[in-house]
Amino acid sequence: MYFNFTEEHLMVQKMARDFAQNELKPGVIERDEKQQFPAEQVKRMAELGFLGMMVDPKYGGGGMDTISYVLAMEEISKVDASCSVIMSVNNSLVCWGLEKFGTEEQKQKYLVPLAKGEIIGAFCLSEPEAGSDATSQKTTAEDKGDYYLLNGTKNWITNGGTASVYLVMAQSNKELGHRGINCLIVEKGMPGFTVGPKENKMGIRASDTHSLMFENVKVPKSNRIGEEGFGFKFAMKTLSGGRIGIAAQALGIASGAYELSLEYSKQRKAFGKEISKHQAIQFKLADMATRIEAARLMVLKAAWLKDRGLPFDKESAMAKLFASEVAMWATTEAVQIHGGYGYVKEYHVERLMRDAKITQIYEGTSEVQRIVISRQILNEIN
Ligand code: CAA
Repeated sequence: MYFNFTEEHLMVQKMARDFAQNELKPGVIERDEKQQFPAEQVKRMAELGFLGMMVDPKYGGGGMDTISYVLAMEEISKVDASCSVIMSVNNSLVCWGLEKFGTEEQKQKYLVPLAKGEIIGAFCLSEPEAGSDATSQKTTAEDKGDYYLLNGTKNWITNGGTASVYLVMAQSNKELGHRGINCLIVEKGMPGFTVGPKENKMGIRASDTHSLMFENVKVPKSNRIGEEGFGFKFAMKTLSGGRIGIAAQALGIASGAYELSLEYSKQRKAFGKEISKHQAIQFKLADMATRIEAARLMVLKAAWLKDRGLPFDKESAMAKLFASEVAMWATTEAVQIHGGYGYVKEYHVERLMRDAKITQIYEGTSEVQRIVISRQILNEIN
């Protein structure tokens, strides 16, 4: 077993770190406060190849492995989790699924511009009454011969307002339950498709999250991904990989909070010495460093398995579950270390604590991850 990175991994990590520190950090507090979509920063992410990192270069991507992707996700998330969720959704929920299951025509038309970051994509599964219970899709895609008639509402869609391409799960045959669900590629501007107002969120406030409304939208049959009824499995397989990205995001938020706390503790004085010289703070830092390292190893292992084509559903769920809980805990500790300064918006840890919360919710709540893990464990035993 080797724990070393390749030169390419280290190069990607450094590029992401430099980009995050130099180009994302200035303005991140303001973008959060104003809920301002980071249009310029997303453009730069496209130029640097962060929006289609794992896609084959013949489809405009970077041809990198999942390890490179999680290293970049961690660095970007340390500074700006709004940018990293935009990146994560485009890479793992949109590009990956299109590359793996799309037709050649779909790849040329949609994947190429998505991987280059010329446009961005959104993944549309959640509905007002179907979050964790994802098989209960109420959105319908009625078969009309050479097209589907799409009707319904999707909720909490990342990149909802800014995306150009949407992968929409919808029920085509209720009697078949989840086996009647299709995934359709919907373009912005298709008649009957409207974007609802932007959500006013607790965290990742610069990312744009919207509800989407579909009213008699005609989607050509050629825009269906995979065979008839493959939509739910498509969503599950895609989310399994996506969870590695969110685990890396959570890891980045936790390590960002830890690094800021380490730095702060060496400067701030109390009772006549730097607070880093007090055991109360030393123990907090030691616990943060230890749990973050454990999360990092889990994220890397899930990525390593995926890169080798080995099963990774359990490991990606475990990595997301653990890393997101570490993120919530570590950012809370970071605020505690910063004291009153940690509670005001001029200090980054306040935002990181708010950003951490969503990693326990999206792409499957912590409870859903426990369902996935326990089913895998029981199947392994039987
Ligand atoms: N790969 C392939 N197939 C899978 C699968 C996987 N990883 N997981 C499940 N399936 C298949 C099952 O085999 C089953 O198919 P068959 O009946 O044909 O065998 C089918 O899917 C249904 O599976 P379950 O019976 O396990 O379904 P369930 O109703 O018990 O639900 C669940 C399982 C794990 C709770 C699932 O509903 C789930 O993951 N829910 C959470 C959804 C989620 O993550 N939403 C996030 C929204 S996207 C988002 O947040 C993006 C963003 O913008 C950031």
